[in-house]
Amino acid sequence: MEGPTLVIGREDPPEGEDAAIAALAALHLQIHQVQPGPSVRGEHPKQHAGVWGTFTVEPDVPQALRAGLFATPRSYAALIRFSNGRTADDSQPDVRGMALKILVPDGSGSITAQDIVLADHPVFFARDVAHLLHFLRATVERVPFVQIVPNYPALPAFTRVPTTGPLATTYWSQTAYKLGPGAVKYVATPSGGPEPPIASPAGADWLRESLVEQLSVRQIGARFDLAVQPQTDAALMPIEDATVLWTSTPVRVGSLVIPAQQFDDPDQQSVFANLSWNPWNTLDDHRPLGGINRARQRVYRDSFALRHGFMTAAAGASPLM
Ligand code: HEM
Repeated sequence: MEGPTLVIGREDPPEGEDAAIAALAALHLQIHQVQPGPSVRGEHPKQHAGVWGTFTVEPDVPQALRAGLFATPRSYAALIRFSNGRTADDSQPDVRGMALKILVPDGSGSITAQDIVLADHPVFFARDVAHLLHFLRATVERVPFVQIVPNYPALPAFTRVPTTGPLATTYWSQTAYKLGPGAVKYVATPSGGPEPPIASPAGADWLRESLVEQLSVRQIGARFDLAVQPQTDAALMPIEDATVLWTSTPVRVGSLVIPAQQFDDPDQQSVFANLSWNPWNTLDDHRPLGGINRARQRVYRDSFALRHGFMTAAAGASPLM
């Protein structure tokens, strides 16, 4: 059966998605139950560092991409959290995250957060919510990995052992976001020069150690270019299939500077652990698009509510607030 004619920038939620999102959210609550406690995220619980930086919108953003935050060249304070997807041991294969919170003053004394949540692989391993739900059910039922993988060709490359520290890694949004009338994916590329050599690249905490070594001991700052990849073909770069690599040329829209700093202090790290980075913390101009992002709206909210005691996993999705 033929699907809808695809249009650039337009979402096309598949039939039955609401039920799949509800089932996914319930399953996440069930999984989350085994790791309760304040500040423990349902995913990406291990925090290497929470650091501050400055995000600057470039003056030469092409006219077609001058929307929302990228419309005007100016600088914003930013909070950045580096994390592992699942493992506590940095020498094991995993996903590594860089979550960026750009603090945007709204002109009336308040601040809106524009979060950009990124990971170290260009595509997600599941196409859509139904595909992801099928995977999670199989893992909960302990189906052997070799039986799962044939249905998830993007999975083997999705996790890996890191060979560079967090400041020398490239990160992608994997999913699409609105920009003007169109859609884009984000990519953040290190642009600050070579990373200093790291003493012990194999230890369980070497990613945090490499951040301390660079930013605090050697006092060398870091820099990333933030680029967008515009959706230039609605069929070849679909919004509703997060496993497809978008091939459009990245266009730089901003730069993130992380200055040398002392960050490895329990109080500062606990503030970052208690915050929430969520693609739905957003200006409307940068609204998340596609099924995987639609599911994240509910799951991230639940995870935040659980870890702050606004909701109990045992009671199912029963908000206490
Ligand atoms: C439906 C698919 C997804 C689900 C169910 C999911 C689930 C979650 C959950 C529950 C959290 C913890 C939120 C919190 O407690 O504040 C989280 C965090 C995170 N996720 Fe996802 N995620 C999904 C897709 C993605 C994708 C596509 C990316 C790729 C960029 C991603 C990257 C991250 C990162 C980097 C964090 C850590 C954010 C932080 O530092 O606070 N996730 N995810």
